[in-house]
Amino acid sequence: MDKFVITGGKRLTGEVTVSGAKNAALAIISGALLCDGVCVIENLPAINDVLILQDILTQLGVKVKFADHTMQIDPSGLNSYKAPYEMVRRMRASYYLMGVLLTRFGRFEVAMPGGCQIGSRPVDQHLKGLRALNATIENVGGTYVGYTDKLIGNEVYLDVVSVGATVNIMLAAVKASGTTTIINAAKEPHVVDLANFLNSMGAKIKGAGTDTIKIKGVDFLHGCTYTIIPDQIETGTWMMIAAATRGDIRINNVIPTHMESVSAKLTEMGVTVEEGDDYLRVSAPEGVRLRPVNIKTLPYPGYPTDLQQPITVLLSTAAGTSIITETIFESRFKHIDEIARMGAHIRIDDRTAVVEGVDKLLGAPVRASDLRAGAALIVAALMAEGTSEIYNITHIDRGYENIEKKLLALNADIRRVPAD
Ligand code: UD1
Repeated sequence: MDKFVITGGKRLTGEVTVSGAKNAALAIISGALLCDGVCVIENLPAINDVLILQDILTQLGVKVKFADHTMQIDPSGLNSYKAPYEMVRRMRASYYLMGVLLTRFGRFEVAMPGGCQIGSRPVDQHLKGLRALNATIENVGGTYVGYTDKLIGNEVYLDVVSVGATVNIMLAAVKASGTTTIINAAKEPHVVDLANFLNSMGAKIKGAGTDTIKIKGVDFLHGCTYTIIPDQIETGTWMMIAAATRGDIRINNVIPTHMESVSAKLTEMGVTVEEGDDYLRVSAPEGVRLRPVNIKTLPYPGYPTDLQQPITVLLSTAAGTSIITETIFESRFKHIDEIARMGAHIRIDDRTAVVEGVDKLLGAPVRASDLRAGAALIVAALMAEGTSEIYNITHIDRGYENIEKKLLALNADIRRVPAD
């Protein structure tokens, strides 16, 4: 396994281009299995999560070619409704196979993906939705076993706003008979992107991006070519890096409206965010401490939980005290012990972190506990005085394509070396 060695304190400047959205990619590649032809998906990030999903699809008999950020998917050979634990344990989003395999085979056996570092992550709302569409689902020794004679559209009210459940229900409803209505649906950009993709194959989905999505079942989905949206969380990570290093970065291939909550918070802190049609330019004054702000993570369009960890780092050197409330994932403060080792003063009380700004962070060896904690540690190492070593970077490779090459082009001092 590799580690990153980063010497901080350099002002990062220049341009960076954001890759395609990881979370949209995982939903859309899964959705491609519903196609009655061949799909071509463009602007896919070449990251480990996409490669793992490609591998899972291949094991299920699907023909997949992936090169130059473009994946061609021919699902005509799909020959198994079973996704055992060894297959799914590498990626939580493999729960999307439940909705897809129900549509394709009227049954599935998908192992429970298990907990993870950021919280318990139940799937009760996924199951509630699929059951409402006339599926029977049981837990047999840690594997969800589902079957149906026929998927039938229905009204589903989600008790919590869940991206995963919204996606799974859409995948099961798109070829069900009749109409499905998802009430209290997630409004995240990747939910809209999945709806646009399915509609471009001939699905009839309306309302994605609002809290009520209506899906009229169709019998046939034709092949298509589709370009996925840029990654909102990668964009936010570059915004944090520009602010943290008091740099000046033009971030290209961006949908600025997806970033409004983040832009608003950074602006409150004293960061300059300039919006173009498809870019953001983010800069912060040298030698001036940023202002503290309070953050509460919320479903979109609220402040995203995936960018809570990086902004916590940024606030650790603000001129005063910030309160961060994590409402989505209960264990998403694991990075805080690591940045405390770099000199941050942060107190955690249940789901709230009280961040008292210090003058500076100091480089230290640190360990990434999950993907976004890893991104946060990169932000911390770039703003710290001295050299940091970040271990466990496989988490970072799951979600960020070529991050060290992109950082080097912005003048960062970063090396990927084998870990001891
Ligand atoms: C997705 C994203 C992840 C992001 C998260 C929240 C993907 C692959 N991952 O995760 O990066 O951090 O959205 O924006 O798209 N919940 C339930 N029951 C359920 C499902 C969820 O109680 O059946 C709860 C969760 O515990 C959590 C909240 O709902 O508190 C939101 O989770 P959800 O939106 O489902 O997250 P994911 O889809 O897993």
